[in-house]
Amino acid sequence: MKVEAVKLPTFGRGLSARVLLLTILFVLVSEVLIYAPSIARFRLDWLEEKLNTAHLAILALEATPDYMIDPELEIRLLDHVGARIIGLRGSDGKNLIMRGTTPPLLVDVTVDLSDRGFVQLLEDGVDTLVQPRNRVLRVKGYSPRAADVVVDVVLDEWPLRQAMIAYSWRVLGLSVVISLITAALVFGALQWLIIRPMRRLTGGMVAFRQDPEAMLGEFGATTRGDEIGVAEREFAEMHTNVRQALQQKARLAALGTAVSKINHDLRGILATARLITDRLAESDNPDVRKAAPALLRSLDRAVDLCSDTLNFTREGPPKPAFQIVQLKELIDEVGESLAKLLAGGKVWSNTVPETATVRADRGQLYRILRNLGENALQMGAHTVTLNAVDNPEGIEIRVSDDGPGLPPKAVENLFVPFKGSARAGGTGLGLAIARELMRGQGGDLRLLRSEAGGAVFAIDLANGRSQPH
Ligand SMILES: Nc1ncnc2c1ncn2[C@@H]1O[C@H](COP(=O)(O)OP(=O)(O)O)[C@@H](O)[C@H]1O
Ligand SMILES: [Mg+2]
Repeated sequence: MKVEAVKLPTFGRGLSARVLLLTILFVLVSEVLIYAPSIARFRLDWLEEKLNTAHLAILALEATPDYMIDPELEIRLLDHVGARIIGLRGSDGKNLIMRGTTPPLLVDVTVDLSDRGFVQLLEDGVDTLVQPRNRVLRVKGYSPRAADVVVDVVLDEWPLRQAMIAYSWRVLGLSVVISLITAALVFGALQWLIIRPMRRLTGGMVAFRQDPEAMLGEFGATTRGDEIGVAEREFAEMHTNVRQALQQKARLAALGTAVSKINHDLRGILATARLITDRLAESDNPDVRKAAPALLRSLDRAVDLCSDTLNFTREGPPKPAFQIVQLKELIDEVGESLAKLLAGGKVWSNTVPETATVRADRGQLYRILRNLGENALQMGAHTVTLNAVDNPEGIEIRVSDDGPGLPPKAVENLFVPFKGSARAGGTGLGLAIARELMRGQGGDLRLLRSEAGGAVFAIDLANGRSQPH
């Protein structure tokens, strides 16, 4: 079997590329979410480290008896810490200060590390990052080396900002690497778990479309327990069923052809028999004359059976030819054609408004109405009432009778060809054909009610509403 290449989307439009992009995007988004607190944390650590080294540096003062050291050493220590002024206040009230040659200066911002909450730290981080110029910070906090000592450092903010920017670049680089690795892993997993089986499934569908009757071995065998496995098994199942149905259909079609051929010939033979029987009715022999009408009726029934079967075996219902139909007039016409069955005072009650019009195939609608009327009268109804109901889906014609209702056998096999008949000489085709014709017109035929007091059938004319009436 030749399978034409499956037209799958190019990489750019396929599932893989989208998932790849989305994965990268999601990882980056989560990195951003992590970045904000981590940059704030970085800043806090940096400042605490300053307090720490500042504390160390100022310890040099304590080593001297008068808390004075060589000014040069003081400048070098301040330089080493990166601070302009360092102050210290111990729990014993001792105050130390180290300011080298720093002149009096204005502090731009004072930060007390001991009372900064999470949100404030986040805000401080952003604040530092967006500064266009250097600021002088005064940072206070308990020394990380001794919890009862407060260290106080005045320093430039610029180096902090530089460190934060460098840190941000590192985080960005790392995020990109992580997102690429994650994306590659997700991509691989996806290829393996979804895309490949998907392609196989699509290939199977294409092969199936091209030749529904061919075998497609590989699908049913999958043992995957996930959704794809279910899809594969369902597909295999569907394929098997459709194949069987197609084979069945082919057999039925062959049978149908044979039946219609036989019927066609039989109808010819019956026509000849009918002609001869007509002559028998004029026979001189009274016995023969008496038998003739019964024989004629049987022959007529045989002809009806042939015509119905032929109609049914013909391939599908004929294409409807829609036109605007005057409903009341059509129903009257059907009534006239049923005159024989209506003999003896039976009533054909047409309550459809004079002006009602529908859009339908007139010939088909005539056949359907006649069929329903015929059934009701054959089953012993005295009155058949026809009315039209306007509902949101369109117009519905109701055929109600006061007969005995449908026998159980007819209800069980309602609309099933050859099976629904519960009447001597019936074919069980009338209702099946009527429904097929209605569905062919986009409408439907339904049994609304069936009880001892009578049966009601509804003919739905979907979109059957014509111009306002
Ligand atoms: N209005 C009705 N009242 C009672 N029984 C009905 C009515 N319409 C149909 N039936 C039952 O449904 C069966 C199927 O009808 P139909 O499909 O026309 O086949 P057929 O008329 O050839 O038997 C009939 O045999 C009859 O028993
Ligand atoms: Mg019938």
